[in-house]
Amino acid sequence: KIVPVLLSGGTGSRLWPLSRELYPKQFLPLCSDRTMLQDTALRVSAQSSSKGPSSTQPSSGAEAVFSAPLVICNQEHRFLAAEQLRQSRCTPRGIILEPAGRNTAAACALAALAVTAEDPDALLLILPADHEIRDAEAFRRAVAIAARAAQAGRLVTFGITPTRPETGYGYIRRGHSMDEADGAYNVAAFVEKPSLEVAERYLAEGTYAWNSGMFLFPAARLLAELERHAPAVLAACREALDQGSKDLDFFRLDAAAFAKAPSISIDYAVMERTDRAAVVPCEIGWTDVGAWSALWDVGNKDGEGNVVVGDVLLEGARDCYVRSDNHLTAVVGVENAVVVVVDDAVLVADRSQAQDVKRIVDRLKAEG
Ligand code: GDD
Ligand code: MG
Repeated sequence: KIVPVLLSGGTGSRLWPLSRELYPKQFLPLCSDRTMLQDTALRVSAQSSSKGPSSTQPSSGAEAVFSAPLVICNQEHRFLAAEQLRQSRCTPRGIILEPAGRNTAAACALAALAVTAEDPDALLLILPADHEIRDAEAFRRAVAIAARAAQAGRLVTFGITPTRPETGYGYIRRGHSMDEADGAYNVAAFVEKPSLEVAERYLAEGTYAWNSGMFLFPAARLLAELERHAPAVLAACREALDQGSKDLDFFRLDAAAFAKAPSISIDYAVMERTDRAAVVPCEIGWTDVGAWSALWDVGNKDGEGNVVVGDVLLEGARDCYVRSDNHLTAVVGVENAVVVVVDDAVLVADRSQAQDVKRIVDRLKAEG
């Protein structure tokens, strides 16, 4: 069985003013009427992987089977996470609470340590809780292919066809196809967050995929790779779990021990260095909902290309994203704008500069 691991530790600062420190984006209903955490959990729920009784499609025998998910989030968000999962009728295997985030290498290490203690042969499906996947069926098919590669001892990535020289993603160069798993390939190179120049070259070469940020790891193999490439992360996580305490569904890490974990992402710590990476190229309608521009990309557009959420009136607006939860908001004669209105703040931005909203958040933080 595959254990989904829901990474829910981000702050989503580029989605200010909706996403706030106390209420970050993964806990908000941004892409559907469910929150991103709920959508992520449902995508890998036990029900979603079995075909309904009315289905006439023959079973392909390639279905991935999921067990209850493990959730890893900041301790401040424990009630949000628990309550949202309960509402979705998802009973997690556990919720590990981080006193402060130490990045994804530590989060993956915690998951591998916690799960192998009970099930040494488990496969971990690492899922950021802030991604939109439009084709859930295709996603589960990709996971089934990845599972065969993982069973052969590989650290499996999911490759997305790139559409722009994005510098915030990892890039994967595909090698030979794997004998053990049809549809999976060896990774010839993994490059995390290249410079714009390099990203442009990769895009032109056409042999690179984006790393989706989701992974399928054989848990025991991941521990071995962490031992080799990031032993300090693994040691700190082991100690934080050993000295931590269980409190109902929650597991509280020892703060002093966990603080010793170097803050490094799994991409830099392991994926760039390992010789056991594999990639499953997939077309699953994937979007990393990082900034408002991404919500415009995935949103339902009216005839003028506007995406509108809430109490909004438009006149002559084009290709805008306008969201207002409580105040009647009117936008007239504007193009390519992002307008977001919440009770105590208003954002107006050019859609092409939506990434820079983070700078406002940084300034707000600095000014206290
Ligand atoms: N629990 C926990 N604790 N979760 C975390 C932490 C942490 O300390 N840090 C990050 N996460 C969660 C984030 O909320 C997000 O869902 C996911 O882990 C990935 O972290 P990001 O910080 O968003 O990574 P990134 O976007 O810079 O890069 C990754 O994703 C790209 C695709 O979106 C990499 O894997 C890239 O290679 C990839 O292309
Ligand atoms: Mg991200």
